[in-house]
Amino acid sequence: MNKESKIYIAGHRGMVGSAVWRVLRNLGYTNLIGKTSSELDLRNELSVDEFISMEKPAIIIDAAARVGGIVANNKFPYQFLIENMRIQNNLIQSAHENNVDKFIFLGSSCIYPKMAPQPLKEEYLLTDTLEPTNESYAIAKISGVKLCQAIRNQYGKDFVSLMPTNLYGSFDNFDYETSHVLPAMLRKFHEAKINNNAPVTLWGSGRPMREFLLVDDMAKAVVFAIENKLPEYLYNIGSSMEISIKELAETIQKVVKHQGEIIWDDSKPDGTPRKLMDNSKMNNLGWKAEVDLTTGIKMTYDWFLENIDKIRKVKLD
Ligand SMILES: NC(=O)c1ccc[n+]([C@@H]2O[C@H](COP(=O)([O-])OP(=O)(O)OC[C@H]3O[C@@H](n4cnc5c(N)ncnc54)[C@H](OP(=O)(O)O)[C@@H]3O)[C@@H](O)[C@H]2O)c1
Repeated sequence: MNKESKIYIAGHRGMVGSAVWRVLRNLGYTNLIGKTSSELDLRNELSVDEFISMEKPAIIIDAAARVGGIVANNKFPYQFLIENMRIQNNLIQSAHENNVDKFIFLGSSCIYPKMAPQPLKEEYLLTDTLEPTNESYAIAKISGVKLCQAIRNQYGKDFVSLMPTNLYGSFDNFDYETSHVLPAMLRKFHEAKINNNAPVTLWGSGRPMREFLLVDDMAKAVVFAIENKLPEYLYNIGSSMEISIKELAETIQKVVKHQGEIIWDDSKPDGTPRKLMDNSKMNNLGWKAEVDLTTGIKMTYDWFLENIDKIRKVKLD
C-alpha cells in the first residue's frame, strides 16, 4: 500500500467513515473515494458491482450500515437484518470478484454472546446465544465476519474484521430516538444546562460498567489495519478503560458545566451489568487507544456546540 492507493470508504459521511477519511487525509493519503447513500445505494447489488468494477479500489473500508440504539433495533429487526446483510454482502462479494487487495469490515461488540465471560475475547464468538434486543443486527454482523473469514481462508486474501467497542466523537448521532448512551447524555446535560440547570433524569441505577473509545482512535486502528497485514481474521478494538454509567454521567456533567441534579430512575432497566472488550490481540500488534475519556468528551462537546444546528434526524423505519 502507498499513499496514492485508491481507498473506497463505504459510509464516509457517518461517524466512523468520516473519522477514517479525516485521519487518512491527515496522514497524506490522497486517493480516497466515497459515495453518499443517495448516490449509491449499497443495498443494490448491480449498482455496487458496477461501481467497484469501474473504480477498482485497492482497499475497501466497510463503515456503511444501518445502525441504531435499542429502540430502533427492537422495532425494526427485519430491516436491521436484511439491510445490513445486503450492504455487506454486496460489498464483500464485489471486492472479492474485483480482486480488491484489502477489505476491512466493521462490526460491533454485540456479536458476542450475551452471557460470555468478561472481558470479551474474540474466541467467544458463536459460543452461546446473543442478546435478544439486538439479535438481528448481531447476526448480520456475524455473517459479515464469517464471509470475510471464508474468503480469507479459501483464497488467502487480506479480508479482516474489526469489532469496535462503544464509539463516540464528531459526527455522532445525537437524535434521542436512535442515539447511543454517550451522545444522548451529552445532549441531555447540555439542554438541561441552558434550561437553568434543570435536573437530568437518567435510566437505571448508573451501576453498569462500560467501555468507550473516541472514534478518531478507532480510525487509527483502521489505518493500522491498512498499513499492516493482520495475522488473524477478527480483532476487538477498544480503549480497555472501564467506567460505570454513573461516572460517565458525572464526567459529562463536568465537561458540559451543568450544575443541576442527576436523578437515577431505577424503575428503568440497567441492561448488561458489564461490557468490556479484551483488546490485547490488537494491542500486542502495536495499536493502542491514545485519547482519555475526559479529553474525548471535551472534543465531542466542542464539535456538538459548533454543529448543533446540523444535528441529524435519523429515520426509524
Ligand atoms: N457508533 C458506534 O458506537 C459503533 C460501535 C461499534 C461499531 N460501529 C460500527 O461502525 C460502522 C459505522 O457506524 P457509524 O456509527 O459510523 O454509523 P453512521 O454514523 O450511522 O453511518 C453509517 C453510514 O452508512 C451509510 N449507509 C447506510 N445505509 C446505506 C445504504 N443503503 N447505502 C449506502 N450507504 C449507506 C450512511 O450513508 P449516508 O450518510 O450517505 O446516508 C452513513 O454514512 C457500523 O458498521 C457499526 O456497526 C459503530
